[in-house]
Amino acid sequence: MKELTTSLSNLNLKNPVMTASGTFGFGFEFMNFYDTSLLGAIVCKGISRNPREGNRGHRLAEINGGLINSVGLENPGLTDFIDKIIPEAEKINTTYIVNILGSDIEEYLYIAERLSGLKRADAIEVNISCPNVKSGGISFGKDLNLTRELARKLREIFPRPLIFKVSADIPYLEIARICRDEGIDALTCINTVQSLLIDVDKKAFRFNNIYGGLSGPAIKPVALRVVYQVQKEVGIPVIGCGGIMNYRDALEFFMAGASAVQIGTANFANPLSAYEILRDLSEYCEKNNIPDIRELRIW
Ligand SMILES: Cc1cc2nc3c(=O)[nH]c(=O)nc-3n(C[C@H](O)[C@H](O)[C@H](O)COP(=O)(O)O)c2cc1C
Repeated sequence: MKELTTSLSNLNLKNPVMTASGTFGFGFEFMNFYDTSLLGAIVCKGISRNPREGNRGHRLAEINGGLINSVGLENPGLTDFIDKIIPEAEKINTTYIVNILGSDIEEYLYIAERLSGLKRADAIEVNISCPNVKSGGISFGKDLNLTRELARKLREIFPRPLIFKVSADIPYLEIARICRDEGIDALTCINTVQSLLIDVDKKAFRFNNIYGGLSGPAIKPVALRVVYQVQKEVGIPVIGCGGIMNYRDALEFFMAGASAVQIGTANFANPLSAYEILRDLSEYCEKNNIPDIRELRIW
């Protein structure tokens, strides 16, 4: 396979294809399908300080062109993550990015501080844009002062690369400027799009939490818009994410200005997706004599 290294500020990757948080477990579970060390990075499920049970009731619904989830950020919490999951993750020989969430600044800082002592947390991806959780997520990203304070304080305590993850439902351009100015390395664009489903027969909302997050092909044009705008207007390196199902979808993101991509919902349809996208992308670059993926940008 052709070498496809890329870098986003201080984050150097052996190739630009990674998995999206919450869609690929902790990475090692997929080792039965293929060697996940081949990927540019694994981004693990979002980790909070304490374990979270997630939402009750329906959690996933398939719709035309995508998936709506109302998982509610279920995760084992930081202590179990460090004690039980990290030793397994150490078997994966590629960049390991830990996605974190918090309902206040202190929670994010607590997690980042503990992760800073772990070799395996090569970078942190900060989820400020999840639409599923009442107490954190969306409201966090909507408060620009809070976001600036978070970026500044995380930058002070975490020495390795920091990525902020935004959705299209929050003021992402302002956040991108803040992140650039506070020394954040890259932005992941985008998280799921806030959505709602009605069960007509039951005359009720489908999800207990009312809202869910839309992902998959339906959000690809929205994600491309955000990637393009953030790159063009702010210039902070971007990881494109949203509806990438094959290498041609990934090419669209590189042409819009992304320096790397994440594969999410596609993993549910085909657990080999991320690998196949990397393989096909690599073949495309070889055939078309493209030495660096970032040269694909069309503007
Ligand atoms: C079931 C599910 C769980 C997710 N969990 C997280 C999470 O814990 N943290 C996060 O930042 N994003 C989470 N996401 C969002 C994805 O990482 C990704 O940003 C989004 O699904 C868009 O990409 P896609 O269309 O390729 O899936 C989740 C998405 C899905 C479908």
